[in-house]
Amino acid sequence: MSTSTASPSTNSPKPIHVDIAGKAIDLPVVVGSENEHAIDISHLRSATGYITLDDGFGNTGSCSSAITYIDGEAGILRYRGIPIEQLAEHSTFTETALLLMYGELPTKEKLNKFRGLLIQHEMLHEGLRQMFDGFPASGHPMAILSAMINAVSCYHPDVMQMEDDATFKSAAARLMSKVRTIAAAAYKTSIGHPIVYPRPELPYCANFLHMMYSLPNQPYEPDPDIVRALDLILILHADHEQNCSTSTVRMVGSSGANLFASCAAGVCALWGPLHGGANAAVISMLKYIIDNKIDLKDYIAKVKDKDSHIRLMGFGHRVYKNYDPRAKILKGQADKVLKKLGVAHDPMLELAQRLEEVALSDSYFVDRHLYPNVDFYSGIIMRALGIPVEMFTVMFSIGRMPGWIAHWKEQHDDANSRIFRPRQVYTGHTLRDYVPMDNR
Ligand code: SDX
Repeated sequence: MSTSTASPSTNSPKPIHVDIAGKAIDLPVVVGSENEHAIDISHLRSATGYITLDDGFGNTGSCSSAITYIDGEAGILRYRGIPIEQLAEHSTFTETALLLMYGELPTKEKLNKFRGLLIQHEMLHEGLRQMFDGFPASGHPMAILSAMINAVSCYHPDVMQMEDDATFKSAAARLMSKVRTIAAAAYKTSIGHPIVYPRPELPYCANFLHMMYSLPNQPYEPDPDIVRALDLILILHADHEQNCSTSTVRMVGSSGANLFASCAAGVCALWGPLHGGANAAVISMLKYIIDNKIDLKDYIAKVKDKDSHIRLMGFGHRVYKNYDPRAKILKGQADKVLKKLGVAHDPMLELAQRLEEVALSDSYFVDRHLYPNVDFYSGIIMRALGIPVEMFTVMFSIGRMPGWIAHWKEQHDDANSRIFRPRQVYTGHTLRDYVPMDNR
C-alpha cells in the first residue's frame, strides 16, 4: 500500500503582499503535507532589489523534501511518514535505508536483492586497501573516511555516471557497504592490527563488528545483542532532514558532483563538535567530570556562565525544542544494553542521568528549551559496545549514509533543482585604488 506524498501545494493561503520602497510583490505561500507554511521568496530580489538574511538558516528552507519529517516542538521524527519509534522497534538498518532512498518499505525480494548488492560491494579494491599502509596510526578516522570515500570513485569511475536506477542502486549499495569496510580498516590501522576482510554470510552490522574485532588468530563471533543495539543506533542516525551535513551533501550535489564526492563532503561537515562530533564530546565531558570529581551543580553553573564558553554537550538542538525522540529511545535502551552486556552499573550512564535531571530542573535549560539530543546517550551505548570514542562520529557517518544518499537522489531526480548559490550582504571596503608598495 503506497501512501502518496503530497508535494507542497501552492494553491494555498493567499500570497503575502510586500511593498518595499514602492516596489511591490505578492509572495506565494507554500504549504507542506504536514501543513508547514513557507513564503516563497524566489522572485523577491528581482521584484524589489532586496534579499533576506538569516544567520544559520534557522528560518530558511533550502528545498522541499518528502524524506523525513520533524516536528521540533512536539518531538516528532518520521522517516517517509513512519514514526522513528516503530522503525526502532520493528525495522533493520538495511530495510530503513531502502525506505529512505525509495520512499516505501521494501518487499522481501527487494530487500534480499539489495542485501546481495551490499555483499557484492563489501570488498575494497586492493589498491584502496593498500592506501591504508600510507595513513599514520594517529590519523583521525573521519579524515580517512572522507578521503577513502572519494578515492573509491578513482577505482570505480562508473559511480560518477548515474544514468538509471540500476546504476544508482549499485552506487548506493557500493557506498553503504564500503563505508563499513573503510571504517573498520581505519580502526584496525590505528591499532596496528591487520585489516580484516568481510564475511559475506554476515548481515550488515554483524559483518562490521567482525571486521572491527576479528583477529587472524582469534575469530570474533558477533553477539546478537550487540548486533541489535548497533542496528538500532544506525536506524536512529539514518536521516534528519536538512541538518548541517545533509545540507552539505545537497549543496555539493547541486553542482552536479557525484554521489561519492557529495557524501565525502557530508562526512567533513558531520565531523564538527557542534554536529556529529558531539557524541564523542559527551564522553569527554562525562569523563572530565568523573576524573576531576566535579560537583554537577558547579559544572552546570560553569555551563550557564557565558564567559566559560562551556556547553553541555549532547544538549540542545536547532529544531527540537522538546526531548529529541531518538534520545528518549536511546535512554530507554541504554540500561537494557548495559545489563545484557553484563555491565551492572556504568558510572558514565548514572552520571548522564543525574546530569540530565539537574539540567532539566534548571530554568536556564528549560527556558531555552535545551533537552538531551541524540548524542547525549548514543556515546554511552557505543562505548559499552566496545566502539572506541574516536570512532563515534564514524559510526554516525555510517548511520547517516542512507539519509545522505536519499537526499542526493531526491535532488538529482528533481529536474527543477538548481545549483545552491546563496547571496550575501557585503560589509567590506567601498571602492578604493591599488596602492603601490612604496606608498604603503
Ligand atoms: C546533532 O541539525 C540536526 O538535525 C543535527 C542532528 C542530526 O541528527 O543531524 O540532530 C545531530 O548535531 C545534534 C546536536 C549535537 N550538538 C551538541 O550536542 C553540541 C551542544 N549543543 C549546542 O552547541 C547547540 O544546542 C546546537 C549547536 C545543537 C544548536 O545550536 P543553535 O540552534 O544555534 O542554538 P544557539 O547556539 O543559538 O543557542 C540558543 C541559546 C544560547 O543561549 P542565549 O544566547 O539565548 O543566552 O541556548 C544556549 C546558547 O548559549 N545553548 C546552550 C547549549 N545549546 C544552546 N547552552 C549550554 N549548552 C548547550 N548545549
